[in-house]
Amino acid sequence: MQNIILLGPPGAGKGTQAARLVAKCGMIQLSTGDMLREARASGSPIGGKVKAIMDAGELVSDAIVTALIGERLDSCAGCGAIFDGFPRTRPQAEALDLLLAERGRNLDHVIELAVDEEALVERITGRFTCAKCGTGYHDSFRPTKAPGVCDVCGSTEFKRRPDDKEATVRTRLQEYRAKTAPILPFYDARGLVRRVDGMAPIDEVAAQIDAILVGAAF
Ligand code: AP5
Ligand code: MG
Ligand code: ZN
Repeated sequence: MQNIILLGPPGAGKGTQAARLVAKCGMIQLSTGDMLREARASGSPIGGKVKAIMDAGELVSDAIVTALIGERLDSCAGCGAIFDGFPRTRPQAEALDLLLAERGRNLDHVIELAVDEEALVERITGRFTCAKCGTGYHDSFRPTKAPGVCDVCGSTEFKRRPDDKEATVRTRLQEYRAKTAPILPFYDARGLVRRVDGMAPIDEVAAQIDAILVGAAF
């Protein structure tokens, strides 16, 4: 049972790689972005609070995302966890240490998806997902096999995220540079950071991640 963080800027491929690991080895994906989008869709009070912040591409408060992660960790006592999009600030990283320690868990790896920022705008603005099953696609890098039809469930309805507009992506990249990239030295000092080439094709990135996790029960 491993606990890993996928760390990288918007569009680095965190969600893509997390979904693959879930399918392959039954780990659970803890994506604060997905949790916040679910809160918005359900019309919960948290959803209402975070809407404007997310749509502007800024970070929501540490307290909100830390509480969301804590709840989900409690619901999966015996499984490995992939943290996707969390932690994003130094206080979140410290809160995660505490949450894991309280549950007798360890952090095994912080996998850094290293990418060239200019490629990210193209990746994000071309991204779409199946409205029914959530499978992720990209206009150029991962199109559906039959045009307009989901490979997995056959649905013909797709959606795009409201924060995937170019101007918002630029704000999200700035937030990453200013607040999230500085947590890398925090983990590096503990020898936890493993760097993979996030510019490689999706399958190659996957192979690099598998090589890091190999040997563990997965
Ligand atoms: P979140 O949902 O976490 O968004 P993000 O970090 O901006 O990352 P993305 O989901 O955009 O990118 P990804 O790395 O998952 O890439 P993907 O695999 O989809 O957060 C959204 C917002 O919520 C934040 O802005 C903030 O407001 C709030 N929030 C969330 N967590 C928070 C926290 N902890 N604290 C505070 N606020 C928080 O890939 C992108 C595209 O590229 C896809 O189309 C994919 O098919 C394609 N692709 C993937 N890999 C490759 C590859 N190797 N080659 C070519 N194409 C590829
Ligand atoms: Mg994502
Ligand atoms: Zn589908």
